[in-house]
Amino acid sequence: MTATVHGFAESAPGAGRLAAALGAACHTVAVRRFPDGESLVRVAVPVSGTAILYRSLDDANARLVELLLAAAALRANGAARVVLVAPYLAYMRQDMAFHPGEAVSQKVIGALIAQHFDGLITVDPHLHRIATLDEAVPGIPALAITAAPLLAAAVAAAGDRPLLVGPDSESRQWVEAIAAPHGLDVIIGEKHRNGDRAVSLALPGVEAVRGRRAVLVDDVISSGMTLIAAARLLREAGATSVEALVTHCLASAEDLSRLAAEGIAPIRSTDTVPGETSAMAIAGVLAEAIRGQGWA
Ligand code: R5P
Repeated sequence: MTATVHGFAESAPGAGRLAAALGAACHTVAVRRFPDGESLVRVAVPVSGTAILYRSLDDANARLVELLLAAAALRANGAARVVLVAPYLAYMRQDMAFHPGEAVSQKVIGALIAQHFDGLITVDPHLHRIATLDEAVPGIPALAITAAPLLAAAVAAAGDRPLLVGPDSESRQWVEAIAAPHGLDVIIGEKHRNGDRAVSLALPGVEAVRGRRAVLVDDVISSGMTLIAAARLLREAGATSVEALVTHCLASAEDLSRLAAEGIAPIRSTDTVPGETSAMAIAGVLAEAIRGQGWA
């Protein structure tokens, strides 16, 4: 099956790594912004077979519309099938109406993607109240792959036996998957979110960290306040060092400085969202999943 990979300017390096892992050609989707803010999207090459469109959806509001336009442009240029590879998939956390009148963003965005693409692959989406991604993205093959093996290898590289710490019950799935290959100890926190940048946290069993390296594990760093709350408790309990290992790092430079000032170092993430913490490339895992689906 012929496949080509298409990235936008900001996702070109990741798209290039994926294309190299697949042995496929890689092209850039051209975007021109009109003075009024609308985008003109153009695919300048003829396409056949499967077109793999690569874009992470951090900064989702700005990127989603161009993504849908690019899917249409790929079809107009001959693509028989358009598959979205969104290493970071936005809007998965609002999976219910937490207050009356709120939109359930996961359902809305999932349905939109299902309408415009023939398949979806993403990495460690925040699925909490549903078991599989196709419940959020119905009617197309929607695959959630995990970065856990990459993160587990990163934990093991130091050769000691750190305590792995998940800040909340939702992180349990990632922490346990990373701890399992090496039989590492795990504790899981109880988190209460009081606002966008306000969390309170308890860490039952935190005394196990005395005299040890602690590794905070989560799917995503957003403001960083979750990790800061956990790191303070770990230090108070006698951790020798506190570091962080996550799949997606969405934190701004200012928030990363705040995390560093709290002594959380190193902070390592995969390159699903490229940035200064990206230490692990996801391309090989994505390529394997794409081949497994028969898309390349
Ligand atoms: C939520 O449950 C997620 O797993 C993360 O813990 C959360 O999104 C992190 O957010 P922040 O960095 O803003 O505390």
